[in-house]
Amino acid sequence: PESELTAGDDATSIEEAREAAMGCRRCPLWRDATQTVFGEGPENADVIFVGEQPGDQEDLAGKPFVGPAGKVFDSILDDAAIDRRKVYVTNAVKHFKFEPRGKRRIHSKPNAGEIQACRWWLGKELDLIKPNLVVALGATAAQSLLGKAVPITKMRGDVVEREDGLRVFLTIHPSFILRIREPEDKEAERERFLQDMRKVRELM
Ligand code: URA
Repeated sequence: PESELTAGDDATSIEEAREAAMGCRRCPLWRDATQTVFGEGPENADVIFVGEQPGDQEDLAGKPFVGPAGKVFDSILDDAAIDRRKVYVTNAVKHFKFEPRGKRRIHSKPNAGEIQACRWWLGKELDLIKPNLVVALGATAAQSLLGKAVPITKMRGDVVEREDGLRVFLTIHPSFILRIREPEDKEAERERFLQDMRKVRELM
């Protein structure tokens, strides 16, 4: 049988990689999650958006960004005239990590080891899709894509070129907007994120 650590090595398409990732055991997060949530979108996409990890609804649906953060993301992409069906959307970590609290499952942040373990799959997605641009949505995605922690609030809107030539656009995670309570602040932050997405559209 295929080793748990080499599953996906020989994948030559996103479909094959997704299939192999369903049995991933590179870190322990698979134990409590419902399923692997692999990236989604066309294999010839010009741009890849990278989030943190699936949330509760993504874990159940098996698709990235379909819950509350996904709704915010969709509506802002729409305003920026970016067609979500033409871009590839994925996460730095592909299993939901959570703490049970009563009947609810509360999102908990993936640690450096989990980000590192799952980085292999993100690399596979980048190799297969060969995008012109990658968008890091938040610190976890940036850490996975750049191999080190970067100060997102300071560098948001910047494009960082990796050693392999890949351009990485840095911005916040859409759930950050979701967590703002004060309506004026929320609207201002949504507007800033929309400006970032308009910049992304220019760079695509
Ligand atoms: N947050 C993420 O980072 N990714 C998802 O898929 C959903 C919420």
